[in-house]
Amino acid sequence: MTDTPLLKVRNVSKFYGSRIGCSNVAFDLWPGEVLAIVGESGSGKTTLLNCLSTRLMPTTGTVEYHTRDGSYRDLYRMSEAERRFLMRTDWGFVHQNPADGLRMTVSAGANVGERLMAIGDRHYGKIRETAGSWLERVEISTDRIDDQPRAFSGGMRQRLQIARNLVTAPRLVFMDEPTGGLDVSVQARLLDLVRGLVNDLGLSAIVVTHDLAVARLLSHRMMVMKDGMVIEQGLTDRVLDDPREPYTQLLVSSILQV
Ligand SMILES: Nc1ncnc2c1ncn2[C@@H]1O[C@H](COP(=O)(O)OP(=O)(O)O)[C@@H](O)[C@H]1O
Ligand SMILES: [Mg+2]
Repeated sequence: MTDTPLLKVRNVSKFYGSRIGCSNVAFDLWPGEVLAIVGESGSGKTTLLNCLSTRLMPTTGTVEYHTRDGSYRDLYRMSEAERRFLMRTDWGFVHQNPADGLRMTVSAGANVGERLMAIGDRHYGKIRETAGSWLERVEISTDRIDDQPRAFSGGMRQRLQIARNLVTAPRLVFMDEPTGGLDVSVQARLLDLVRGLVNDLGLSAIVVTHDLAVARLLSHRMMVMKDGMVIEQGLTDRVLDDPREPYTQLLVSSILQV
């Protein structure tokens, strides 16, 4: 980790009319850091993630991003074209439902290769080779490269979505409940895979989850949300082993009853 934050988030709020989506969120994200955002359903996790990734414009606030050229840019003051460029190159976004992040009617290889073409790769043979090696990396047999993801299981689709996102070597990946729709046994394997890739690639990631076990396994630091506000944040082990806020204590103890 370096001493320059990748993201500087200040005073981010999103209101849906008079309803609070998220309120007054501030934090820094460091290179190589995995941050989990946890909280019950409706606490504002997705709203916050969508604001951070500029899929949604907040009502107030700034997010400064440390670009590859070393300057800070306010994400909400960038042009749409600049934001799209970031999303194609520097960032990944892993949706809970893989169908939202994949093209279901083109081949697995094309799903991965498309991202390479978007950053300017033109050599068909090389693109196919890189796509094949990424399929292997996410434990999809390369003989499935010409199959469409609609022929894949839920776990395979999610692994393909991850390959599609990571193939361009992004610096920051957003994930919204990446294991949410999967069977428990499939979840464990996927989490292992994601953890390995994030470590190997030195990625920064922001992971939304309602599952504290996911936060424990993947994240260095976590933020606990309630009613749109961050009510506690700290190193993941500290928050889970020694929660300070009564609400966090409740969250942590309910996992123990499962
Ligand atoms: N498009 C929307 N329009 C109106 N209210 C919304 C919309 N999206 C989310 N909300 C409200 O914002 C709050 C936070 O929702 P959300 O960010 O989806 O929480 P979470 O992801 O933690 O379940 C909830 O009260 C929810 O009903
Ligand atoms: Mg959500």
